[in-house]
Amino acid sequence: MNSIKACIFDLDGVVVDTAKYHYLAWRRLANELGFEFTEQHNERLKGVSRMRSLEILLEVGGIALPDNEMEKLASKKNAWYVEYIQKMTPSEILPGAKELLEELRCNGIKLSLGSASKNSPLILERIGLKNHFDAIVDGNSVTIAKPAPDIFLTAAKKLGVEPEDCVVFEDAEAGIEAAINAKMRTVGIGNPQILNRADVVMPNLKDFTYSKLIEIFKK
Ligand code: BG6
Ligand code: MG
Repeated sequence: MNSIKACIFDLDGVVVDTAKYHYLAWRRLANELGFEFTEQHNERLKGVSRMRSLEILLEVGGIALPDNEMEKLASKKNAWYVEYIQKMTPSEILPGAKELLEELRCNGIKLSLGSASKNSPLILERIGLKNHFDAIVDGNSVTIAKPAPDIFLTAAKKLGVEPEDCVVFEDAEAGIEAAINAKMRTVGIGNPQILNRADVVMPNLKDFTYSKLIEIFKK
C-alpha cells in the first residue's frame, strides 16, 4: 500500500531557475563594495536565507559590518533581485515542473510549496503557478531557515498529512538536510555528489512521473 500522500516542492532551483537572478544581484552588491563574487562563491548561497547569504558574501569580501548596515545591504540586494523577477514569465518554469504538479494532483497527491524565499508569492504569480499548490509555505510565514525542518513540517501540517507520508523535492544540500530532519522522503534535483544524502537524485523534473514516485517510495 502506497503511503505517499503529499509532495513538497522547493521553489528556487526546482520549479524555476532564479539562482541566476540571485547571483546577478549579489554580484552587483559585491562589486559595489569593491570585490569580486564568482559563480562558485554563489553556490554557497543556494537554499540559504537572505541574511545568511549576505553574511557569506561579506565573509568572501573580508568585510565586517554592524547589523543595521547589513539590513540596508540586504534590502538593496533584494530591490535589485525584485527588478529581475518582476520580469519573469511562465516560460521560465523549469522543464517538467508544471506537468508533474498537474499529474500529481490528478492522482490525489496534496501539494505544497516549501521555500525559504520571501519573494515566493511574487514569483508564483509571475509564472502562473499560484493555484497549483494546496498550501504555500515560504520565508514570510516561517523564518527559521533550512536545514531546520520547520518549513517542511509547517507544510505537512497545513496539508494535514504526517511527515513520513511526504516527499520533498530539493536542489540544495541545506534543503535535503531540512527534509531529513523533518523525517520526510527526498528527491534531490541536481548533482548527485552534492545531494548525496537524498533518497534519489534526478537531473531535473522532466521525466519524473507519479508512477516513478510510487515505485521509488513503495514500502
Ligand atoms: C532560497 C534561495 O530559496 O531563498 C536562496 O535558494 C535565497 O538563494 C533564499 O537566499 C531567500 O530568498 P529571498 O527571495 O527571500 O531573498
Ligand atoms: Mg532551492
